[in-house]
Parts: sequence; structure tokens; C-alpha cells
Amino acid sequence: MATTPANGTSTEATIEDYYVEDRIFEPADGFRSSALTADRSLYDEAAADRLAFWARQAREHVTWFTDFHTVLEWDLPFAKWFLGGTLNVSYNCLDRHVEAGRGDKVAYWWEGEPGDTRTITYADLLDEVCKFANVLKGLGVERGDRVCIYMPMIPELPVAMLACARIGAAHSVVFGGFSADSLSDRIDDASAKLLITADGGYRRGEPFGLKDTADASVEATTTIENVVVVQRTGQDVSWNDSVDYWYHELMDGPTASADCPPEHMDSEDLLYLLYTSGTTAKPKGIMHTTGGYLTQVVFTHKYVFDLKPDTDVYWCAADIGWVTGHSYIVYGPLANGATSVIYEGTPDTPGRDRLWDIVERYGVTQLYTAPTAIRTFMKWGAQEPAKHDLSSLRVLGTVGEPINPEAWMWYHTHIGGGSCPIVDTWWQTETGGHMISPLPGVTTTKPGSATHPIPGVFAELVDDDGRPVERGGGYLTITRPWPSMLRGIWGDPERYRETYWSRFEGRYFAGDGAKIDDDGYLWLLGRVDDVMNISGHRISTTEVESALVDHAAVAEAAVVGAADDTTGQAIIGYVILRGSHDATDELGEEVRQHVATKLGPIARPKTVVLVPDLPKTRSGKIMRRLLRDVAEGRSLGDTTTLADQSVVDEIRTRAAESPQED
Ligand code: WTA
Repeated sequence: MATTPANGTSTEATIEDYYVEDRIFEPADGFRSSALTADRSLYDEAAADRLAFWARQAREHVTWFTDFHTVLEWDLPFAKWFLGGTLNVSYNCLDRHVEAGRGDKVAYWWEGEPGDTRTITYADLLDEVCKFANVLKGLGVERGDRVCIYMPMIPELPVAMLACARIGAAHSVVFGGFSADSLSDRIDDASAKLLITADGGYRRGEPFGLKDTADASVEATTTIENVVVVQRTGQDVSWNDSVDYWYHELMDGPTASADCPPEHMDSEDLLYLLYTSGTTAKPKGIMHTTGGYLTQVVFTHKYVFDLKPDTDVYWCAADIGWVTGHSYIVYGPLANGATSVIYEGTPDTPGRDRLWDIVERYGVTQLYTAPTAIRTFMKWGAQEPAKHDLSSLRVLGTVGEPINPEAWMWYHTHIGGGSCPIVDTWWQTETGGHMISPLPGVTTTKPGSATHPIPGVFAELVDDDGRPVERGGGYLTITRPWPSMLRGIWGDPERYRETYWSRFEGRYFAGDGAKIDDDGYLWLLGRVDDVMNISGHRISTTEVESALVDHAAVAEAAVVGAADDTTGQAIIGYVILRGSHDATDELGEEVRQHVATKLGPIARPKTVVLVPDLPKTRSGKIMRRLLRDVAEGRSLGDTTTLADQSVVDEIRTRAAESPQED
């Protein structure tokens, strides 16, 4: 069976290393003795009765206005969790802590890239959220509406999300690096009524703009009635008096009362949409609801990070525009009453020790980041973290892509001082919360393995025919519904069934390949579909191909994700030009930039190779495998099915000559 990732074989080369991986790391005695959980009791409880287990978590960790009467209604593939229960997510994140006398506790230590800071307590946050919730109502936003959010990493971003949750409107956060086209596609798909954005933000020491992009999107769509703009950088922006409002003016205005009782939402009401790339060009609006989502996110945030809210300073260095930020910067930490750090900018501004400086200054206890970042830090060298006292760290987390054992060991040694457990958390936008991860006081870890499903989650590998695989490689499937699972794809229930539940009967198919070793440890190997993973960001080959052929000079395009030392995979585009165009480096660069304009800079190919033809089978199918081999400099395997063998030699020559982005 094929478990080689369809878009890259970076992980394949090291599978054997994984198998001979004999380093194991047990939780240190000192850690175990004070850990929230240090034995198998949660696993045993969940194995004995998973519904009773999740019901207990829901009642212990979530405050309900009305208790639920039924834990799960499962009409495959449609799940409803905690039926009859009513709650409000913003109440759980804010009011209940303030009511319990913890209003003065810091919710966020926010640090802007230029060095400006804000300290936001739970009482401050509640106040600002209530005011903005009333502002939203004043602008005509009602329960059940969708609100689109396109913002940099500033405190007003979680404020906007929580204000939506408070009044029962669903948010759809679009990462600030996406283009105007991507933003308008998402606005259209969700029929969003309001857009919340900013003049800009800071990255790599410079302000960047967002308002122009937001304007272009609003122009191209029909449903946005008003735009709220946060002033972050003070740069000049174009202004349309009939739709644009400054956030700070609204918050000083008559509608911004601080009294806003939370809506009582049904456990299955929509909390948010988050768009993610699939195997087709059209992104999917992943739906998450309130009760089940919050339960799993709070549970995992607490136990996977061994969170002690009274003493810990937790930092997830992701962007809120992705699911990691939704679940583990906003909802999980706030519902747990944690103190978190939020950092606006890039890790190399002003110096390559910015992260370590932040860890030292705030006394960060848990750090959660991505393997691609760790590999970058490795490249920058151990002298950077060594400049700082990192002894406050207790738990290190990683997410987004498989972590290679070298990066794991570097993280362990140079950041964790050899003593912090590492939690390698496997999950997806669709799963809402962690699914496979160590528990730091319980699990013996191996560098590069996400180990086992968390309590209450059940995963199995299967072969091509859907038969369970006990040892060796297979497709990763989840065998039982879980509370924070996606409830569907916005507006397309059939696509939901088709994408996730049709490949293997009765099982959720994650799209990832994995191996299970002799000790029963899981090793994630990457995507087995046409989804690439670039620095932990999901980008579909089809999406990039459509953006390439959208350029007037392009006749045909094929895209592959090739192994890359830093970003995990890199996008390589092979492009056939239309007849009248010459294959110049300038045109290649123009085509590359075109993708950035269409989709956003994160989707810009590292290289565009202008080729006379593409390798195709006799039936006309593009052989992407060969293109990957070329991109990764491997000798070609079997090429006998190729219609024209000489094509590959020509492509190889062109690839060697094509300019690459650094
Ligand atoms: C990959 C991010 C290996 C995987 C939370 C998955 C991982 C996709 C890990 C989801 C991990 C995420 N080890 N691979 N610990 N975590 N992935 O939706 O391929 O942006 O399917 O969610 O990232 O990406 P998404």
C-alpha cells in the first residue's frame, strides 16, 4: 500500500530512522509528581465509557446555562453533542472568571512587534468584548449572522471573535496574509454581513497594509454592509464614509455600552467558520459549534499542556488566523482562565532571539510552535536561545506537520534544557482540538512520534481496502465521533460526506498517512492527498494550479510540493506557456507573483519552471510523481507509462536553470 505522501517524500527517506529510533524520554520524576495527571486513569475512564467520560469533561470544564440531556446523537456522518445544553462561549471565557473574583488576572500579555505592549486582564477583556458586542448589534449584526475578520495579531482580534460569540454571530477569520480574491471568496461563500479589519500591522520591522485589500474584497462582494477598521499603524487609508467605521470611534460612541448579557446558545449553534484548503480549488468552510468544541478544546489545553492557570504563563506562537490560534490562543486558554502571551510579529525582529527574549521577560512556562519554526531556529544557531534564561519553560508543544527527530532533539536540548516534556500534537482544522498527543506527565515520548490518541479519541490505521493495520504503514482514520469534530462544510453537506467519510466506510479519513511501530506508537508521515504543507500551512496543489493558469501567458500548469529543509515542503510549479510567449526568467517571475496576488504570499511558488511539455501518461494524466522526483533531485523510477520519454529530460534541464526564491 502507498503511504508515501502524494506531494513529497521528505518523510519517506527517514522512515527507517524512525524505526530505529531508540531514544525514549520518560516524564521526569519532578514533573510527574506535580503534573495534573500522571497515570492512566483518564485513558482508562475514557476506554470504559467514552460518552460518560466526555459528559464529565463537559460538566466539569464548561459552565452551562441549561444542562444537556443527551451526550451524543450520531447519524453518520452527522454528530450532535450535548443536546439540550445551552451556553455562551464568551461567558465561559470571560464572565465566569470575573464572577469568581479573578477579574484582575492577566488574560493576555500582548507584545507588538515594534516593542509596544498591552496588559489585558480578564475584567478589561470582558468590558471591551461587551462594548464591541453592542457595537456589532448597533451595526445590525444579529444572532445567526456571519462576520468576517481580517486582522493582524492585535488584541482587537480576539475581542472581535468573542464579541461575535457573545451575540451568537459566527465569525469567519481570514488570515491576514491572504489576498483580496481569497478574502472575497470567503466573504461570498459565508454571505458575511460585516467585515472587521485594520489599517495594517507590523512584520519584519515594517508596517504592512490591510485596508486596500479589504476594500478590494468589499468591492467584489455583495453581502458586506459595514466595515469596522482598527487603527494599528496609523498609515493613510482610503475611506468610504458610507460603509467604513473606525473601531475606536465606535467604542467611544453611544452604542458601546459595557452591558451586554450573553446570548444563550444551543450546544449545536454555529460558533465559527474557518476556511481550509482541500483537494479542489475551492476552500471549504469548516463548521465548528459551541458545546462540543469548547469541551474538547478546554480539556486538551489543560491536560496536554499541564496547565496550572494560577502560576503558568502560556504562549502559543501561532497566528490566530489558523485553527491553532482559534483553539489554543483564544478559546482554550481563556476558558481555562490562563495567562497567555500574544506576539504580533516575526521571530527575527529586531533580532533572531526575539522569541527567547519574550520567554525570559514574561517567564513563559509553556511554548507551542511549529516544526518549521524550530528548523529555522536550528539554522540560526543555538547561541540565540543561549543568550536568554529559558528556565521558566516546563512544557514544549509542536503542531502543524511531522517533526523530524533532529528538530525534536534540538527543541528538547536547546529550548527545553533537556528537561521539558515535548507534546507533539496531531490535529486539523476539521478536528477542532488535539487528537493525537502525549500527556506530559504520563507518556513516554520518542523524538518524532505524536505517540497515541488522547483519552476519548479513537484512531486506527487502515490499508487501501479499509482493513485495520496493527503494525506498519496505513491511512490514518478516526473511528468514533469526538466532541470538537467539524459539523460539516458550510453550505455543502454532500462534500462533507464525500471528503471525509466516503473513502473508508464508517470512518473519518484525515488525509494523512502514518505508521505504527512495534510499541504501538504513531508516526505521522504527511498528507496522502493533493494538499501540500508549507511551513505548517495547508495549500492545495489544485488551488495553486488554478492561480497559475489564471495568468494570461499560461496554458497549462502542474504543481508539486517538494521536500524542503526549512518549510517542510516547498511549492514548485511547472508551467507550459501559450504559444506566443517566450520562456524568460522575467515571465517566470511574473507568473510566480501572479499566484501571490491571486492567493496570497504564502502560496507563491518557490520556483516556477517554464517547460515545453508536462510528463503525461498515455491517457493524458500528468505524472506528478516524476515532477516531484525532478524537484527533489532524485533519479526517476519507472517511466515506461510516459507517452513521451524525452519530456522529462527537458524538464530536468529547465528546472536546473530556473531561478529560486531564497
Ligand atoms: C498536519 C493544524 C504531523 C497534518 C492544526 C494534518 C501534523 C494537517 C501535525 C492539518 C503533527 C498537523 N504531526 N502532521 N503534530 N499537526 N499536521 O488544518 O497533515 O492547518 O492533516 O491544522 O497538518 O493542518 P491544519
